[in-house]
Amino acid sequence: MLRFERVSKKFTEGAVERQVLREASLELPTGSFTALLGRSGSGKSTLLNLAAGLDRVDSGRVFCDEVELTALSDHDFTLFRRRQLGFIFQFFHLFPTLTVAENLGLVLELSGRSGDVEGMLRRVGLWERRESYPDKLSGGEQQRVAVARALVHGPRLVLADEPTGNLDQENGATVLDLLRLRDAGVTLLVATHSQEVADAADRVVRVVDGQLV
Ligand SMILES: Nc1ncnc2c1ncn2[C@@H]1O[C@H](COP(=O)(O)OP(=O)(O)OP(=O)(O)O)[C@@H](O)[C@H]1O
Ligand SMILES: [Mg+2]
Repeated sequence: MLRFERVSKKFTEGAVERQVLREASLELPTGSFTALLGRSGSGKSTLLNLAAGLDRVDSGRVFCDEVELTALSDHDFTLFRRRQLGFIFQFFHLFPTLTVAENLGLVLELSGRSGDVEGMLRRVGLWERRESYPDKLSGGEQQRVAVARALVHGPRLVLADEPTGNLDQENGATVLDLLRLRDAGVTLLVATHSQEVADAADRVVRVVDGQLV
């Protein structure tokens, strides 16, 4: 469903060049749950950002089914992101001036899709908080909203960058359960340092020396 083909990416900072990914290849089957492990700075976030079009490869190709993402214009990548992708961040990144329900509503509006805001908020246990602003919620609650927001428009691909990294054990387990309850056919890639997340995944991929093993 998601395929990285010999993807390379380096970053340059002044005179220092860091080759983060070196011809890294990976194939994620439709509906699978893959945990992406690797030491800090190994390139996990970089890989997710490349799949989301938040950053661009130096060489290699990324496909989502038959669509070559790396060939998309910025405009078309934005449309892909809005319609096909859900992204969950370590620090929640909810829209602060929108209520919980509006955070989901905006995603639906941008995607042009219909979706069930009430059903999704009930699923994450936060329908009663639909009128609240994000800064009035706990970290665990904010991340549950972020999960609901990532799923509400029915994306085919969900990318999560350390979604439990800022949560205690219990809240982390809740978020993990919610991700596992995604609809069939939704492909999930989670960058994580958590053993619990790795244990729950169908497959574990490690970033080692810029390669995916
Ligand atoms: N925009 C950037 N400019 C320069 N260097 C960058 C940039 N983004 C990432 N890097 C470097 O690329 C390497 C990989 O970073 P990345 O964020 O992908 O690691 P990570 O595996 O997600 O680490 P962590 O587990 O700490 O989140 C790091 O050395 C980082 O400093
Ligand atoms: Mg990271």
